[in-house]
Amino acid sequence: MAIKAHVSVPGTTANCGPGFDSVGIACTIYNHIELELVEQGNCTVTVSGEGEDNIPVDDRNIAVKAVRAVFDRVKCSNYGISLKMDNNIPLARGLGSSAAAIVGGLVAANQATGNQLTKQDLFEIATAIEGHPDNVAPAIFGGITISLTKERKPHCMRFIPPNKLVMVVAVPEFTLSTHKARQVLPSNIPFQDAVFNVGRTAMLIGALCSGEYQHLRYALEDKLHQPFRQSLIPGMKEVFDAAIQCGAYGAALSGAGPCLISYTDKNTDEIGVAMTSAFAQAGIKAKYLVLNIDQQGAVVIK
Ligand code: HSE
Repeated sequence: MAIKAHVSVPGTTANCGPGFDSVGIACTIYNHIELELVEQGNCTVTVSGEGEDNIPVDDRNIAVKAVRAVFDRVKCSNYGISLKMDNNIPLARGLGSSAAAIVGGLVAANQATGNQLTKQDLFEIATAIEGHPDNVAPAIFGGITISLTKERKPHCMRFIPPNKLVMVVAVPEFTLSTHKARQVLPSNIPFQDAVFNVGRTAMLIGALCSGEYQHLRYALEDKLHQPFRQSLIPGMKEVFDAAIQCGAYGAALSGAGPCLISYTDKNTDEIGVAMTSAFAQAGIKAKYLVLNIDQQGAVVIK
């Protein structure tokens, strides 16, 4: 049995417009988690990079919770935990930082305790911790994922699109918790809005599977969450418009936001500059990232 594990885990973008709580994409930005099993009763956490000043370094840490969830599952609770987190994924921005922490903790703990759990087992534990499957699925499986939950059990399909697709992400300086971004959502929506999203989600998956990205412009439209979250993200519509004017296929909120993401296969820097300039005009300082689709999901480095 290994007692140390080093895991790399990708950031993710969820929803992808209309696919609320279902569609997700793994992105080529990574956090690293190193777990060492130590003497029972100890729990030390160090964080470097993103979140180093505000991520809890005790039992409240979500990666620690994930490690303990694996210990409970494999009945291996006679260890303490030493965890090192080295983060590149911006925190509370809609790029799956909490999913990465959960999945990183789960995969590292599974490796350190002898790989007794399958990826599907880890997916089920991760979904139970996170509350929805759309970020944890791509963090585990890589690629583009479609997830749903039936009788509390999450199911996932994964695929890689046939043609190059690049994501240009505008990352504003301010943070937005998923909790706050879910509080603005309505409990009911009109039937016509549900129909609107069904068509867009079907076309989104068709466009991504076939590589016919010209359909993304309309397939990324949404009436379930983006209209309600727009008030939390100054300049959202203008940033989308700026990306499309520079040649992006389409744009959407990344997860619960506040990152805004556009999909393209060209003009990446031009699109990034246009998106951040549009944010600046709304008084929001932002940077941009150019990310590809990660195909592997979380991997054990050693
Ligand atoms: N589907 C989730 C939401 C993603 O939009 O609230 C955030 O993690």
